[in-house]
Amino acid sequence: MAVFFDEKKSLFTLYTKSSMYQIKADDLGVLLHTYYGKKTKNTDYSYLIFCKDRGFAGNPYDAGKDRTYSLETLPQEYPCFGSGDYRSSALRIRTVMGYKAIDLRYEGYEVLEGKYSIPGMPAVYAQEDDQADTLVITMRDEAESIFVYLYYGVLENLDVITRAVRIENRSEKPVYLEKAASMCLDQIYGSYDWMTFYGKHEMERELSRTPVHHGIQSVGSVRGSSSHHYNPFVILAERGASETQGSCYGFSLLYSGNFLAEAELDQINQTRVVMGIHPDQFEFELRPGEEFWTPEVAMAYSDSGFEKMSHIYHETYRNNLCRGKYKKARRPILMNNWEGTYFDFSGEKLAEMAAEAADLGVELFVMDDGWFGKRDSDESGLGDWYVNEEKLGCTLAELSDKIHDLGMKFGIWFEPECISEDSDLYREHPDWAFQIPGRKPVRGRYQLVLDFSRKEVRDHIFDQMSRVLDQVKVEYLKWDFNRSINDVYSAGLPAHRQGEILHRYVLGLYEFLQKLSDRYPDMLLEGCSGGGGRFDAGMLYYCPQIWCSDDTDAIERLKIQYGTSFGYPVSAVGSHVSASPNHQTGRKTPLSTRATVAMAGTFGYELDPMKLTEEEKKEIRGQIQNFKEYYDLIQDGRYFRLTSPYEEEAYTAWEFASEDSSEALVSVVSVKTYANAAPVYVKLRGLKEDQFYLMEGKRYLGGALMYGGFRLPAFRGEYESWNFHFVMEK
Ligand code: DGJ
Repeated sequence: MAVFFDEKKSLFTLYTKSSMYQIKADDLGVLLHTYYGKKTKNTDYSYLIFCKDRGFAGNPYDAGKDRTYSLETLPQEYPCFGSGDYRSSALRIRTVMGYKAIDLRYEGYEVLEGKYSIPGMPAVYAQEDDQADTLVITMRDEAESIFVYLYYGVLENLDVITRAVRIENRSEKPVYLEKAASMCLDQIYGSYDWMTFYGKHEMERELSRTPVHHGIQSVGSVRGSSSHHYNPFVILAERGASETQGSCYGFSLLYSGNFLAEAELDQINQTRVVMGIHPDQFEFELRPGEEFWTPEVAMAYSDSGFEKMSHIYHETYRNNLCRGKYKKARRPILMNNWEGTYFDFSGEKLAEMAAEAADLGVELFVMDDGWFGKRDSDESGLGDWYVNEEKLGCTLAELSDKIHDLGMKFGIWFEPECISEDSDLYREHPDWAFQIPGRKPVRGRYQLVLDFSRKEVRDHIFDQMSRVLDQVKVEYLKWDFNRSINDVYSAGLPAHRQGEILHRYVLGLYEFLQKLSDRYPDMLLEGCSGGGGRFDAGMLYYCPQIWCSDDTDAIERLKIQYGTSFGYPVSAVGSHVSASPNHQTGRKTPLSTRATVAMAGTFGYELDPMKLTEEEKKEIRGQIQNFKEYYDLIQDGRYFRLTSPYEEEAYTAWEFASEDSSEALVSVVSVKTYANAAPVYVKLRGLKEDQFYLMEGKRYLGGALMYGGFRLPAFRGEYESWNFHFVMEK
């Protein structure tokens, strides 16, 4: 059991393998947060709280004449707007009378065996041999009869605590949720850095680290999806924390829509983190008897730097979030035709490419955008999910058969959420696209977004898609989404409920993805949104891999994949070898380096194999063999960031070490070369100190490789790469 309740002290202590989380209901029933950090013996951490009359800090009426007791200065578990706490709140509710006030007090608790799940939304789940418990704390606002249930999933061996909130209206009148965050964490003291992942299309998840300062710092998305621009994964790190030292806290929201993550340093230097659905464009009507679930946040604490925190997320998301056949089964090495042909292809061309790919050892051929409706450019066709046989010059079944006859699997691209104005679907149902009556919509890549909050819209697209997928054998589906949402208006909801659309959209998306995986359980789903525009833990629940970025430049990918690795496992990172010069940057890189970088992901090719030289083909055959050999080590091993591209300009190095430390693969890419350069070393991690490792005929002590280091060969030129495979001596 990982949840302890001390009745006399009204103290809840949650234990994971190495962390501890504590909550206390005080005499007034206010739920205080007293501790989250390294595991210690159980003790009441509320001794850390110091109350003092702070002036202009209001006092709840039931505190009587105690001017030292204020919700504004107390560390709270789920603070509410209108309760006298002027910091960022987790919950803001408007009543039918128009006022916004809610004051939650402790009512009771329940401990459930196993990990809770959330209807219609992603959640981390426990596997059979996991120790998991759920604590549910009930809070109540007496005046409004609103009940709030705080859910804590305690996954002891995974070292993860999840949080989600269920809000129930037991009154006789509707209320309006204006903000309903998934969690709040108040740290009583400490100097922290706020680490977030920002970016843009073709350059996602760059790392930003800034000190938490007075006021509110936040990242979020109001684009309807989690976005390229900020990721719903953030870290609160003790000042000075590094890869291997110092405390840090990860917060990962399992949600693919608008989100907000805030860090606030208050007047007495307490740090508050609030995370959940973005309150902009959000307002949810809760009628009498109705309830609302927030999405889940997975929290991980590390007492020894980012590496440990990342390992917690990697393991949890790989094993306890991803689902389906390809959670464990080896994923096929694919070739995607996008950068090879863009829209300019025929069935014959694809078959030719597939034959060449099969000869190289590729196992899955993916037909990307352009095979349906009228689609020779991105200006038309979306929404018409019927095969363009005229363009292909054959039926889909014929193409699929040809590919299967080569001994390959067949995959296909869809963009189900979008619609082109030049499409039959739009001509028939213009109101199915998000548009505000009387206004011209904002276009993105010439297209509009379908109103997935409406069931009839989703069902229609699902029927069209299954008509295609039932026709032919399709083993892989790439689900793309190529714009941000605007013009949020739904004909499916009355005026006063328009604030629900974007959340209902995400729920609709999840329902669709679930239906798709139920109907085609053996099909591998790869998420995509113009590359990594929806690279989040919510999508990973449905798609075990996500196309990481439309930037396939191996050198830029070093940063993108570095940033991504903080919160997501390598098994999730869609990564391909593309042509050189690179289509996004024009940079020339050796084929070997492109493969080294793509190997730190799901691995595949995205080029026209007909343009390869015999020498390149030979090299690719070797790369495929290599990747297969290292597959388990890469996908299931522990991933180590040996250098940071932000600190080390000359080269980037990373390592995969098997769980039992019996082997390790170290990859290095030279980024910048210098004349008369000083020798360069890396220190390995995750080995056994007292065991010997063999690499290219040499014998090294594990401890020496980790603490003394390993000298890299002199760089002969920029963008060169190496892979060093160390195997423990038997
Ligand atoms: C964006 C994706 O990220 C690309 O890989 C490709 O599928 C295009 N869309 C197709 O339109």
